[in-house]
Amino acid sequence: MFIAANWKMNLSKKSISYFIESLQSVEFSKTVNACIFPPSTYIDFLLNSIGKLPISVGGQNCHYELSGAFTGEISPLFLKDIGCTYVILGHSERRCFNNETNEDIKLKIQSAIKADLNPILCVGEKLIDREQGNANKFIKNQIIGCLPENLDKTFIAYEPIWSIGTGKIPNYSQISEMHKHIKEIVFDITRKNIKVLYGGSVNKKNISNILKIKDVDGVLVGGASLNVKDFLAIYSAAVKHLCENNNIEN
Ligand code: 13P
Repeated sequence: MFIAANWKMNLSKKSISYFIESLQSVEFSKTVNACIFPPSTYIDFLLNSIGKLPISVGGQNCHYELSGAFTGEISPLFLKDIGCTYVILGHSERRCFNNETNEDIKLKIQSAIKADLNPILCVGEKLIDREQGNANKFIKNQIIGCLPENLDKTFIAYEPIWSIGTGKIPNYSQISEMHKHIKEIVFDITRKNIKVLYGGSVNKKNISNILKIKDVDGVLVGGASLNVKDFLAIYSAAVKHLCENNNIEN
């Protein structure tokens, strides 16, 4: 079970310190992996603040080359070098505001894998695609366009664009169907199983129900992950869910 916190372009050194201080007395469970994706300027600070807490840190983006004359860019090797384990790639905000294409994203994923990072490939349809019955086709094209040759370390996050930051989420059968669809597409192409996270307006109220949905292997949380109490409520719900379903010790 994976709980990923995408902080996007938010928080400050002071608020990150407060966030991490609030986690010091928490008993973490081995059954749930948590990873925070801070703004890149704070990755090092966050890693140092986290110290021995069992929380991973990841980048929100990386470049498709490992090094070279690319002013202002961040190599996946740099992320790895400072201690990141994951990187989010193809987030809809980058596809939209930075014109990232499936081809760009595929190159970035391959570069991230070369740097020994675990990429989280984001896919998601617009409301119009869903309303017109094209969501499955749209997602299939995104996956085919972005899937790396060797996907062993890759996760997919299904984040319907119309659900991000809106408080609206697809109904539970739509989430379940889409996750199954994504897993089938990846299996058909690669003969490998992939873990699929759900993202879009996840919060402390809906998390328990979202985790009950078949084929949901975790969540990618934006807004609600900025508040440490909400982050912990989401984390605890994941631990509880696993205990109830698998009788796994915390
Ligand atoms: P919200 O949880 O704020 O809807 O954001 C989701 C997201 O984009 C995570 O990557």
